[in-house]
Amino acid sequence: MTLATAPGKAILLGEHAVVYGRPAIAVPVNEVCARAEVISLPGAAPGTIVVDAPDVGLAGELSGLDPGHPIPRILLDTLHALGPGLTPALTIRVTSSIPMASGMGSGAAVSVAIARALSQHLGLPLAPEQVSALAFAVERIHHGTPSGVDNTVVTYGLPVYFRRGEAPVPFEIAGRMHLVIGDTGIASSTAAAVGMVRERWRLDPQAYERYFDALGDLSDRALGLLESGRIAELGPLLDSAQDVLKQMGVSSPALDVLVSAARAAGAWGAKLSGAGMGGTMIALAAEPEVERVRQALLAAGAVLTIHTQVGK
Ligand code: PMV
Repeated sequence: MTLATAPGKAILLGEHAVVYGRPAIAVPVNEVCARAEVISLPGAAPGTIVVDAPDVGLAGELSGLDPGHPIPRILLDTLHALGPGLTPALTIRVTSSIPMASGMGSGAAVSVAIARALSQHLGLPLAPEQVSALAFAVERIHHGTPSGVDNTVVTYGLPVYFRRGEAPVPFEIAGRMHLVIGDTGIASSTAAAVGMVRERWRLDPQAYERYFDALGDLSDRALGLLESGRIAELGPLLDSAQDVLKQMGVSSPALDVLVSAARAAGAWGAKLSGAGMGGTMIALAAEPEVERVRQALLAAGAVLTIHTQVGK
């Protein structure tokens, strides 16, 4: 049996602006993950690949599944990347504890776990850049114009400073950062949110370029703070980013309620995370305040909270 996992992710700063070339910072969320297990099927004809993905109700032989679905797609693309040769018969079982359609990178994590498990099982492990590129190609089918930040952070499993078209910069946080993630429970379509921002940017490019500049500047300032361990000082940066994202129209009443609740409970700062219009928010807090923030989020309607620690 070959097992590979990939974590969830949260965007700390720079969502949406990253689609327009500004930097973003994303962190892995190791408390949740996607898992892919490959098991040999002795006796079955070589080339047979059986897929079992109970979370999304997908089961059957790869050759009979819709090749446009993300799971068959990443399997086919990975086999193609590994080159010609007959694959021994195998079953691949895919599960994930990452909430779906909530801005936590579940799709990218599933792709990364599958590409890794399959390539390792076949004795041809892929380099991280290759794994990330395979996951990016699948993201592109489903999200239109993804920036590539999701596949990058879940592949490296480290905080990443990311700018589209440039090599990602994984970095270490000096110290430990506590984030409480609150899920509104409202499914959010990244493609729809990105499409809406694009439409508004077309109508008012000057205003939106200013928003993107402001968000990118916050990412740059945050990188310096994280690398020097000045975690508390990030709080006001998260709050500023939330103000800008709200002006851009990608927050939502449910997100605003959770952000206010986290701040009132003592968080250093809070903002939506990911595409917005639903999905998740993050709150940055000192460790002793984490439980209070978590309870406040639940009382304010979060359907799920995750406390994640990033850094040493
Ligand atoms: O997949 P999500 O919800 O984390 O959104 C990704 C962040 C965006 O900047 C909105 C889109 C992108 O491709 O970077």
